Amino acid sequence: MAPATRVTTSFDNAAQVLLPPETGLRYLRTTRAGELALDPGGVTVTDDGRIEALEPTADADVHVDATGCALLPGLVDCHTHLPFAGWRAQEHEQKVTGVPYEEISRKGGGIASSARALRETPDDEVLAQATQLAGEMLALGTTAFECKSGYGLSREGELRSLKLARGLDAHVPQTTTRTGLLAHAVPSGYTADTWMDEVEAMLPEAAEHADTLDIFVESIAFGLEHLDRMGTLAAAHKLRLRAHVEQFSTMRSVPIALKHDARSLDHLSAIHPDDIGPLAQSETAAVLLPGAEFMGAEATAPARTLIDAGAIVVLATDANPGTSPIFSLPLIVGLAVRRYGLSTREALLAVTLNAAYVLERSDQLGSIEPGKQADLVLLDGPAEQVAYRLGRNPVAATFVAGQPVYVRPDAEWRIAPR
Ligand code: NIG
Ligand code: FE
Repeated sequence: MAPATRVTTSFDNAAQVLLPPETGLRYLRTTRAGELALDPGGVTVTDDGRIEALEPTADADVHVDATGCALLPGLVDCHTHLPFAGWRAQEHEQKVTGVPYEEISRKGGGIASSARALRETPDDEVLAQATQLAGEMLALGTTAFECKSGYGLSREGELRSLKLARGLDAHVPQTTTRTGLLAHAVPSGYTADTWMDEVEAMLPEAAEHADTLDIFVESIAFGLEHLDRMGTLAAAHKLRLRAHVEQFSTMRSVPIALKHDARSLDHLSAIHPDDIGPLAQSETAAVLLPGAEFMGAEATAPARTLIDAGAIVVLATDANPGTSPIFSLPLIVGLAVRRYGLSTREALLAVTLNAAYVLERSDQLGSIEPGKQADLVLLDGPAEQVAYRLGRNPVAATFVAGQPVYVRPDAEWRIAPR
Protein backbone atom coordinates (compact mmCIF):
# COMPACT_ATOMS: atom_id res chain seq x y z
CA MET A 1 0.00 0.00 0.00
CA ALA A 2 1.34 3.43 -0.90
CA PRO A 3 2.49 5.78 1.86
CA ALA A 4 -0.26 8.25 2.74
CA THR A 5 1.79 11.38 3.21
CA ARG A 6 5.19 12.62 2.11
CA VAL A 7 7.16 13.84 5.08
CA THR A 8 10.74 13.57 6.17
CA THR A 9 11.22 11.80 9.48
CA SER A 10 14.01 11.94 12.01
CA PHE A 11 14.49 9.15 14.56
CA ASP A 12 16.22 10.88 17.44
CA ASN A 13 18.30 9.73 20.36
CA ALA A 14 17.92 5.93 20.10
CA ALA A 15 19.77 3.96 22.76
CA GLN A 16 20.73 1.41 20.09
CA VAL A 17 20.61 1.39 16.29
CA LEU A 18 21.35 -1.96 14.63
CA LEU A 19 23.76 -1.32 11.76
CA PRO A 20 25.60 -3.71 9.41
CA PRO A 21 29.41 -3.64 9.37
CA GLU A 22 29.43 -2.55 5.70
CA THR A 23 26.95 -1.38 3.12
CA GLY A 24 25.80 -3.39 0.11
CA LEU A 25 25.98 -6.82 1.75
CA ARG A 26 23.64 -9.44 0.23
CA TYR A 27 24.04 -11.49 3.41
CA LEU A 28 26.44 -11.78 6.31
CA ARG A 29 27.74 -15.15 7.40
CA THR A 30 26.67 -15.59 11.00
CA THR A 31 30.26 -15.95 12.23
CA ARG A 32 30.48 -12.19 11.55
CA ALA A 33 27.37 -11.22 13.55
CA GLY A 34 29.57 -9.73 16.27
CA GLU A 35 30.48 -6.98 13.79
CA LEU A 36 26.93 -5.61 13.81
CA ALA A 37 26.79 -2.32 15.71
CA LEU A 38 24.16 -1.69 18.39
CA ASP A 39 25.23 1.80 19.39
CA PRO A 40 23.33 4.98 20.29
CA GLY A 41 22.28 7.10 17.33
CA GLY A 42 19.58 8.33 15.01
CA VAL A 43 18.32 7.95 11.44
CA THR A 44 16.80 10.31 8.89
CA VAL A 45 14.22 9.15 6.36
CA THR A 46 13.43 10.94 3.07
CA ASP A 47 9.90 11.95 2.08
CA ASP A 48 9.76 9.01 -0.32
CA GLY A 49 10.43 6.48 2.43
CA ARG A 50 14.15 5.77 2.00
CA ILE A 51 16.88 5.94 4.60
CA GLU A 52 18.82 9.11 3.97
CA ALA A 53 21.36 9.38 6.75
CA LEU A 54 22.53 7.50 9.81
CA GLU A 55 22.01 10.54 11.99
CA PRO A 56 19.01 12.62 13.08
CA THR A 57 18.03 15.87 11.31
CA ALA A 58 16.73 18.86 13.28
CA ASP A 59 14.46 20.23 10.52
CA ALA A 60 12.69 16.97 9.59
CA ASP A 61 8.86 17.23 9.34
CA VAL A 62 8.27 14.47 11.89
CA HIS A 63 10.39 13.49 14.88
CA VAL A 64 10.37 10.12 16.57
CA ASP A 65 11.68 10.29 20.12
CA ALA A 66 13.55 7.00 20.43
CA THR A 67 14.95 7.69 23.89
CA GLY A 68 15.66 4.39 25.65
CA CYS A 69 14.66 2.41 22.55
CA ALA A 70 16.42 0.09 20.13
CA LEU A 71 15.87 0.90 16.45
CA LEU A 72 16.06 -2.16 14.21
CA PRO A 73 15.47 -2.82 10.53
CA GLY A 74 11.95 -4.15 9.94
CA LEU A 75 11.85 -7.87 10.70
CA VAL A 76 11.63 -10.21 7.72
CA ASP A 77 9.74 -13.51 8.05
CA CYS A 78 11.11 -15.54 5.14
CA HIS A 79 9.15 -18.75 5.84
CA THR A 80 5.40 -18.67 6.38
CA HIS A 81 2.55 -20.70 4.94
CA LEU A 82 0.12 -17.79 4.55
CA PRO A 83 -2.56 -17.78 3.24
CA PHE A 84 -4.39 -20.73 4.79
CA ALA A 85 -7.87 -21.41 6.14
CA GLY A 86 -8.80 -22.14 9.74
CA TRP A 87 -6.73 -23.83 12.43
CA ARG A 88 -5.94 -27.34 13.72
CA ALA A 89 -5.96 -26.92 17.49
CA GLN A 90 -7.33 -30.43 18.09
CA GLU A 91 -4.24 -31.91 16.38
CA HIS A 92 -1.99 -29.99 18.71
CA GLU A 93 -3.64 -31.70 21.64
CA GLN A 94 -3.20 -35.10 19.95
CA LYS A 95 0.45 -34.30 19.33
CA VAL A 96 1.26 -33.24 22.88
CA THR A 97 -0.50 -36.31 24.25
CA GLY A 98 1.77 -38.55 22.20
CA VAL A 99 0.36 -39.11 18.69
CA PRO A 100 3.20 -38.61 16.16
CA TYR A 101 2.75 -36.05 13.33
CA GLU A 102 3.32 -38.77 10.74
CA GLU A 103 0.40 -40.77 12.20
CA ILE A 104 -1.92 -37.74 12.36
CA SER A 105 -1.02 -37.09 8.77
CA ARG A 106 -1.60 -40.70 7.60
CA LYS A 107 -5.09 -40.57 9.17
CA GLY A 108 -6.16 -37.62 6.99
CA GLY A 109 -5.10 -34.88 9.40
CA GLY A 110 -2.15 -32.60 8.90
CA ILE A 111 -1.66 -30.97 5.52
CA ALA A 112 -4.66 -32.80 4.01
CA SER A 113 -7.02 -31.34 6.59
CA SER A 114 -5.81 -27.79 5.88
CA ALA A 115 -6.27 -28.54 2.18
CA ARG A 116 -9.90 -29.51 2.84
CA ALA A 117 -10.45 -26.33 4.86
CA LEU A 118 -8.94 -24.17 2.11
CA ARG A 119 -11.10 -25.81 -0.55
CA GLU A 120 -14.24 -25.16 1.48
CA THR A 121 -13.47 -21.54 2.39
CA PRO A 122 -14.37 -18.71 0.01
CA ASP A 123 -11.64 -16.33 -1.23
CA ASP A 124 -12.80 -13.36 0.84
CA GLU A 125 -12.66 -15.38 4.08
CA VAL A 126 -9.19 -16.73 3.31
CA LEU A 127 -8.00 -13.20 2.59
CA ALA A 128 -9.68 -11.83 5.73
CA GLN A 129 -7.89 -14.38 7.94
CA ALA A 130 -4.52 -13.71 6.28
CA THR A 131 -5.01 -9.93 6.53
CA GLN A 132 -5.82 -10.19 10.21
CA LEU A 133 -2.69 -12.30 10.80
CA ALA A 134 -0.56 -9.86 8.81
CA GLY A 135 -1.87 -7.16 11.17
CA GLU A 136 -0.70 -9.20 14.15
CA MET A 137 2.68 -9.58 12.46
CA LEU A 138 2.94 -5.83 11.93
CA ALA A 139 2.41 -5.28 15.65
CA LEU A 140 5.24 -7.78 16.22
CA GLY A 141 7.63 -5.89 13.93
CA THR A 142 7.37 -7.94 10.71
CA THR A 143 7.58 -5.63 7.69
CA ALA A 144 8.12 -8.28 4.99
CA PHE A 145 7.04 -11.89 4.75
CA GLU A 146 6.88 -14.84 2.43
CA CYS A 147 3.56 -16.34 1.31
CA LYS A 148 3.47 -19.95 0.16
CA SER A 149 0.99 -22.21 -1.55
CA GLY A 150 0.97 -25.87 -0.53
CA TYR A 151 -2.51 -26.39 0.87
CA GLY A 152 -4.05 -26.49 -2.61
CA LEU A 153 -3.12 -30.10 -3.31
CA SER A 154 -4.61 -29.85 -6.82
CA ARG A 155 -3.63 -27.85 -9.85
CA GLU A 156 -6.56 -25.44 -9.37
CA GLY A 157 -5.98 -25.32 -5.62
CA GLU A 158 -2.30 -24.44 -5.89
CA LEU A 159 -2.92 -21.77 -8.52
CA ARG A 160 -5.78 -20.34 -6.46
CA SER A 161 -3.54 -20.23 -3.43
CA LEU A 162 -0.83 -18.30 -5.31
CA LYS A 163 -3.42 -15.86 -6.67
CA LEU A 164 -4.82 -15.33 -3.17
CA ALA A 165 -1.28 -14.63 -1.97
CA ARG A 166 -0.93 -12.06 -4.76
CA GLY A 167 -4.29 -10.58 -3.70
CA LEU A 168 -3.12 -10.27 -0.09
CA ASP A 169 -0.52 -7.77 -1.23
CA ALA A 170 -3.21 -5.12 -1.74
CA HIS A 171 -4.54 -5.57 1.82
CA VAL A 172 -1.33 -5.35 3.86
CA PRO A 173 1.39 -2.71 4.19
CA GLN A 174 4.17 -5.30 4.29
CA THR A 175 6.31 -6.41 1.34
CA THR A 176 5.22 -9.95 0.41
CA THR A 177 6.73 -12.63 -1.81
CA ARG A 178 5.20 -15.80 -3.27
CA THR A 179 6.58 -19.31 -3.20
CA GLY A 180 4.94 -22.23 -4.95
CA LEU A 181 5.18 -25.12 -2.48
CA LEU A 182 3.86 -27.29 -5.25
CA ALA A 183 5.02 -30.57 -3.73
CA HIS A 184 3.87 -30.48 -0.09
CA ALA A 185 1.90 -33.72 0.33
CA VAL A 186 1.02 -36.33 -2.26
CA PRO A 187 -2.65 -35.66 -3.17
CA SER A 188 -4.97 -38.66 -3.12
CA GLY A 189 -5.21 -40.37 -6.49
CA TYR A 190 -1.54 -39.64 -7.26
CA THR A 191 1.82 -41.16 -6.54
CA ALA A 192 4.70 -38.80 -5.80
CA ASP A 193 5.88 -39.38 -9.40
CA THR A 194 2.55 -38.69 -11.07
CA TRP A 195 2.02 -35.61 -8.89
CA MET A 196 5.41 -34.29 -10.07
CA ASP A 197 4.12 -34.72 -13.65
CA GLU A 198 1.19 -32.51 -12.64
CA VAL A 199 3.58 -29.98 -11.09
CA GLU A 200 5.50 -29.87 -14.35
CA ALA A 201 2.26 -29.30 -16.25
CA MET A 202 1.08 -26.46 -13.99
CA LEU A 203 4.44 -24.72 -13.87
CA PRO A 204 4.11 -22.41 -16.86
CA GLU A 205 1.07 -20.86 -15.17
CA ALA A 206 2.35 -21.12 -11.59
CA ALA A 207 5.57 -19.36 -12.61
CA GLU A 208 3.55 -16.25 -13.44
CA HIS A 209 2.55 -15.94 -9.79
CA ALA A 210 5.61 -17.19 -7.88
CA ASP A 211 9.31 -16.40 -7.85
CA THR A 212 10.38 -19.50 -5.92
CA LEU A 213 9.55 -23.22 -5.83
CA ASP A 214 9.51 -25.33 -2.69
CA ILE A 215 9.13 -29.04 -1.87
CA PHE A 216 8.71 -31.06 1.34
CA VAL A 217 11.29 -33.84 1.30
CA GLU A 218 10.30 -36.37 3.94
CA SER A 219 9.36 -40.02 4.39
CA ILE A 220 5.66 -39.03 4.39
CA ALA A 221 5.99 -36.64 1.42
CA PHE A 222 8.52 -36.49 -1.45
CA GLY A 223 11.86 -38.18 -2.01
CA LEU A 224 15.31 -37.19 -3.22
CA GLU A 225 14.48 -37.89 -6.86
CA HIS A 226 11.57 -35.43 -6.61
CA LEU A 227 13.81 -32.79 -5.08
CA ASP A 228 16.20 -33.31 -7.97
CA ARG A 229 13.35 -32.94 -10.43
CA MET A 230 12.02 -29.80 -8.70
CA GLY A 231 15.51 -28.30 -8.93
CA THR A 232 15.60 -28.93 -12.67
CA LEU A 233 12.08 -27.50 -13.10
CA ALA A 234 12.97 -24.40 -11.09
CA ALA A 235 16.00 -23.73 -13.28
CA ALA A 236 13.97 -24.28 -16.46
CA HIS A 237 11.43 -21.67 -15.32
CA LYS A 238 14.05 -19.27 -13.90
CA LEU A 239 12.66 -19.66 -10.37
CA ARG A 240 14.63 -20.02 -7.17
CA LEU A 241 14.57 -23.35 -5.33
CA ARG A 242 13.93 -23.71 -1.61
CA ALA A 243 13.11 -26.92 0.22
CA HIS A 244 11.71 -28.24 3.50
CA VAL A 245 14.33 -30.83 4.39
CA GLU A 246 15.60 -32.99 7.23
CA GLN A 247 12.68 -32.01 9.49
CA PHE A 248 11.84 -35.42 10.96
CA SER A 249 14.08 -37.86 9.06
CA THR A 250 17.66 -37.68 7.88
CA MET A 251 17.04 -37.89 4.14
CA ARG A 252 20.41 -36.59 2.85
CA SER A 253 18.69 -33.89 0.76
CA VAL A 254 21.49 -31.38 1.20
CA PRO A 255 23.89 -32.53 -1.56
CA ILE A 256 21.07 -32.59 -4.12
CA ALA A 257 19.75 -29.19 -3.12
CA LEU A 258 23.25 -27.72 -3.25
CA LYS A 259 23.71 -29.12 -6.74
CA HIS A 260 20.67 -27.04 -7.74
CA ASP A 261 21.97 -23.97 -5.94
CA ALA A 262 18.95 -23.77 -3.62
CA ARG A 263 18.47 -20.36 -2.05
CA SER A 264 17.67 -21.94 1.30
CA LEU A 265 17.16 -25.25 3.07
CA ASP A 266 14.59 -25.03 5.82
CA HIS A 267 14.15 -27.02 9.08
CA LEU A 268 17.40 -29.09 9.20
CA SER A 269 16.59 -30.52 12.66
CA ALA A 270 17.76 -33.95 11.44
CA ILE A 271 20.63 -32.85 9.14
CA HIS A 272 23.39 -35.45 8.72
CA PRO A 273 26.67 -34.26 10.29
CA ASP A 274 28.53 -34.77 6.99
CA ASP A 275 26.17 -32.32 5.25
CA ILE A 276 26.86 -29.43 7.61
CA GLY A 277 30.24 -28.41 6.13
CA PRO A 278 29.14 -28.27 2.46
CA LEU A 279 25.94 -26.40 3.35
CA ALA A 280 27.85 -23.94 5.52
CA GLN A 281 30.37 -23.22 2.78
CA SER A 282 27.70 -22.58 0.14
CA GLU A 283 25.48 -19.56 -0.53
CA THR A 284 22.42 -21.64 0.41
CA ALA A 285 20.98 -20.24 3.65
CA ALA A 286 20.15 -22.53 6.58
CA VAL A 287 16.65 -21.47 7.68
CA LEU A 288 16.02 -22.76 11.19
CA LEU A 289 12.49 -22.93 12.57
CA PRO A 290 12.65 -23.19 16.37
CA GLY A 291 8.89 -22.62 16.70
CA ALA A 292 8.11 -25.80 14.76
CA GLU A 293 10.81 -27.64 16.71
CA PHE A 294 9.34 -26.48 20.00
CA MET A 295 5.68 -27.08 19.15
CA GLY A 296 6.39 -30.50 17.66
CA ALA A 297 9.03 -31.54 20.22
CA GLU A 298 11.35 -32.12 17.25
CA ALA A 299 15.09 -32.54 17.42
CA THR A 300 17.04 -29.28 17.77
CA ALA A 301 18.89 -28.14 14.64
CA PRO A 302 22.67 -27.92 15.14
CA ALA A 303 22.69 -24.15 14.88
CA ARG A 304 26.03 -23.55 16.59
CA THR A 305 27.81 -26.14 14.49
CA LEU A 306 26.33 -24.60 11.33
CA ILE A 307 27.43 -21.12 12.44
CA ASP A 308 30.94 -22.22 13.35
CA ALA A 309 31.24 -23.92 9.97
CA GLY A 310 30.38 -20.60 8.27
CA ALA A 311 26.67 -20.92 7.40
CA ILE A 312 24.27 -18.12 6.54
CA VAL A 313 21.83 -18.84 9.37
CA VAL A 314 18.28 -17.52 9.19
CA LEU A 315 15.33 -17.77 11.58
CA ALA A 316 11.66 -17.74 10.65
CA THR A 317 8.28 -18.54 12.17
CA ASP A 318 7.17 -21.28 9.72
CA ALA A 319 3.73 -19.82 10.51
CA ASN A 320 1.18 -22.47 9.56
CA PRO A 321 -1.92 -24.06 11.10
CA GLY A 322 -0.16 -27.37 11.84
CA THR A 323 3.43 -27.49 13.00
CA SER A 324 3.91 -23.84 14.00
CA PRO A 325 0.88 -21.60 14.61
CA ILE A 326 3.33 -18.87 15.65
CA PHE A 327 3.52 -15.45 13.98
CA SER A 328 5.89 -13.70 16.37
CA LEU A 329 9.49 -13.18 15.28
CA PRO A 330 10.35 -11.76 18.74
CA LEU A 331 9.24 -15.11 20.20
CA ILE A 332 11.27 -16.99 17.56
CA VAL A 333 14.31 -14.89 18.50
CA GLY A 334 13.76 -15.80 22.16
CA LEU A 335 13.44 -19.50 21.39
CA ALA A 336 16.52 -19.44 19.16
CA VAL A 337 18.66 -17.61 21.68
CA ARG A 338 17.73 -20.10 24.40
CA ARG A 339 17.62 -23.34 22.43
CA TYR A 340 20.49 -22.74 20.00
CA GLY A 341 22.64 -20.56 22.23
CA LEU A 342 22.64 -17.59 19.86
CA SER A 343 23.76 -14.11 20.82
CA THR A 344 21.32 -11.22 20.35
CA ARG A 345 23.26 -10.04 17.26
CA GLU A 346 23.28 -13.52 15.72
CA ALA A 347 19.52 -13.83 16.20
CA LEU A 348 18.74 -10.34 14.93
CA LEU A 349 20.92 -10.84 11.84
CA ALA A 350 18.93 -14.01 11.20
CA VAL A 351 15.57 -12.18 11.09
CA THR A 352 16.76 -9.13 9.15
CA LEU A 353 19.50 -9.05 6.49
CA ASN A 354 19.92 -12.80 6.08
CA ALA A 355 16.15 -13.34 5.95
CA ALA A 356 15.87 -10.63 3.28
CA TYR A 357 18.58 -12.49 1.33
CA VAL A 358 16.43 -15.63 1.33
CA LEU A 359 13.60 -13.59 -0.21
CA GLU A 360 16.06 -11.92 -2.62
CA ARG A 361 15.20 -8.52 -1.16
CA SER A 362 18.43 -7.68 0.63
CA ASP A 363 19.20 -4.97 -1.93
CA GLN A 364 16.26 -2.96 -0.50
CA LEU A 365 15.33 -4.50 2.86
CA GLY A 366 16.90 -6.11 5.91
CA SER A 367 19.35 -3.47 7.15
CA ILE A 368 19.52 0.19 8.04
CA GLU A 369 21.67 1.78 5.35
CA PRO A 370 21.32 4.86 3.16
CA GLY A 371 19.21 4.25 0.06
CA LYS A 372 17.30 1.27 1.43
CA GLN A 373 13.57 1.32 2.13
CA ALA A 374 12.94 2.76 5.60
CA ASP A 375 11.28 -0.29 7.15
CA LEU A 376 12.05 0.15 10.85
CA VAL A 377 11.02 -1.27 14.19
CA LEU A 378 11.19 0.72 17.39
CA LEU A 379 11.54 -1.48 20.47
CA ASP A 380 10.54 -0.13 23.87
CA GLY A 381 13.87 -1.15 25.40
CA PRO A 382 17.28 -2.56 24.53
CA ALA A 383 17.54 -5.32 21.92
CA GLU A 384 18.81 -7.85 24.47
CA GLN A 385 15.36 -7.79 26.10
CA VAL A 386 13.71 -9.39 23.06
CA ALA A 387 15.02 -12.83 23.96
CA TYR A 388 15.20 -12.27 27.69
CA ARG A 389 11.56 -11.28 28.29
CA LEU A 390 10.35 -14.34 26.38
CA GLY A 391 6.85 -14.15 25.00
CA ARG A 392 6.42 -10.41 25.55
CA ASN A 393 5.97 -8.14 22.55
CA PRO A 394 8.67 -5.44 22.78
CA VAL A 395 7.50 -3.50 19.68
CA ALA A 396 6.54 0.13 20.38
CA ALA A 397 6.08 1.08 16.69
CA THR A 398 6.57 -0.34 13.21
CA PHE A 399 7.35 1.76 10.13
CA VAL A 400 7.07 0.71 6.49
CA ALA A 401 8.77 3.01 3.97
CA GLY A 402 9.05 5.62 6.71
CA GLN A 403 5.33 5.60 7.59
CA PRO A 404 4.10 4.48 11.01
CA VAL A 405 1.90 1.45 10.26
CA TYR A 406 1.59 0.30 13.87
CA VAL A 407 1.99 2.39 17.01
CA ARG A 408 1.33 0.96 20.45
CA PRO A 409 -0.91 3.41 22.34
CA ASP A 410 1.68 4.03 25.07
CA ALA A 411 4.23 5.02 22.39
CA GLU A 412 2.06 7.52 20.50
CA TRP A 413 3.69 10.46 22.29
CA ARG A 414 7.01 9.54 20.70
CA ILE A 415 5.89 10.51 17.18
CA ALA A 416 5.30 14.22 16.72
CA PRO A 417 5.48 16.88 14.01
CA ARG A 418 8.33 19.38 14.27
O1 NIG B 1 6.87 -26.39 7.38
N1 NIG B 1 6.88 -29.56 6.88
C1 NIG B 1 5.97 -29.41 6.12
N2 NIG B 1 5.19 -28.33 6.06
C2 NIG B 1 4.85 -27.51 7.15
C3 NIG B 1 3.78 -28.10 7.97
C4 NIG B 1 2.51 -27.98 7.33
C5 NIG B 1 1.34 -28.44 8.14
O2 NIG B 1 1.43 -29.32 9.02
O3 NIG B 1 0.29 -27.92 7.82
C6 NIG B 1 6.08 -27.11 7.94
O4 NIG B 1 6.31 -27.48 9.08
FE1 FE C 1 7.15 -24.74 6.42
